[in-house]
Amino acid sequence: MAKRKINSAALQPKFDELERKNQESLLGGGEKRIAQQHAKGKLTARERVMLLLDEDSFEELGKFVMHRSKDFGLDKEHYLGDGVITGYGTIQGRLVYVFSQDFTVFGGSLSETHAEKIVKIMELAMKNGAPVIGLNDSGGARIQEGVVSLGGYADIFYRNVMASGVVPQISAVMGPCAGGAVYSPAMTDFIFMVENTSFMFVTGPNVVKTVTHENVTAEELGGASTHSMKSGVTHFACANEAQCINEIKQLFSYIPQNCEEVARALSYTSGNESRPSLNEIIPSNPNQPYDMRDVIHGVVDDQSFLKCIKILLKILL
Ligand code: HXC
Repeated sequence: MAKRKINSAALQPKFDELERKNQESLLGGGEKRIAQQHAKGKLTARERVMLLLDEDSFEELGKFVMHRSKDFGLDKEHYLGDGVITGYGTIQGRLVYVFSQDFTVFGGSLSETHAEKIVKIMELAMKNGAPVIGLNDSGGARIQEGVVSLGGYADIFYRNVMASGVVPQISAVMGPCAGGAVYSPAMTDFIFMVENTSFMFVTGPNVVKTVTHENVTAEELGGASTHSMKSGVTHFACANEAQCINEIKQLFSYIPQNCEEVARALSYTSGNESRPSLNEIIPSNPNQPYDMRDVIHGVVDDQSFLKCIKILLKILL
């Protein structure tokens, strides 16, 4: 960011301080933790937002918010933004509210102030009739804060319920999410997961081992395959984060902004599609099986079928 020069000597230190804070907030939990995030094949919270939204459309809110806790050494550890990036922007020109949890700051865990930032986004989305997209990467309630953090979840769950049926709520689970960090996404309308790097569980394998003596891997406990094949919690399982974000955008293009809008109608242009004739797909012998996906592709617009639960299909094929 270019250094802002102003004519007043008295105000210059304030602008310098603002600029320093802006730079600091971009670093989240610091360069070392960002490198660790990348080494795991994950993007940072800010990179995800930039990939999701139209270029230069993101307006960040609460960039300098910090937690208010003093216990368990938290008084000595502060990060601007407090582990969640919140704001609004556009996707294909349409307004959307976004929050993106930053695993580099206390494992993306939810503090009282972190929760307040998310609640603010949800309130604004309901007020302005726009969807909310949550990019979740969080170890759950910030353990050091105890009950204040749990109260923050209560505030979020309440907004999940109030927003249900009013504005679309979309969640992407993009890291090891535990505890309260999975209850809220599970209450939303559409849930995406990323294969191998995202997990949804009430608590991790180590605690399960301590409490129940059961050995279970993170994938078995709450990986994308478990939630797409067994529990049914997730609707979309994606190969990587880039694909996940692209599919969110595709889904977003199909849904209306709120309960009072109808979905966008697209004009149909015929001529350049090559569709198999439905008569050829469905065999005349009723005992002979056929691939239902060929029928779907024959009926819907070209390239428009958004497949849920790809892992299941991959295993069946
Ligand atoms: C504070 C946390 C944290 C948390 C992780 N961290 N979870 N800090 N509160 N909940 C911190 C770690 O201490 C560590 O800090 C950094 O984030 C990265 O975590 P790692 O453990 O090194 O990462 P990884 O090995 O990838 O494991 C991620 C994890 C694991 C699976 C999420 O951290 C974990 O199991 N965390 C606890 C999960 C949990 O039980 N949450 C439930 C909270 S109770 P340093 O400084 O070492 O880098 C809850 C109830 C809600 O949510 C009820 C609502 C009504």
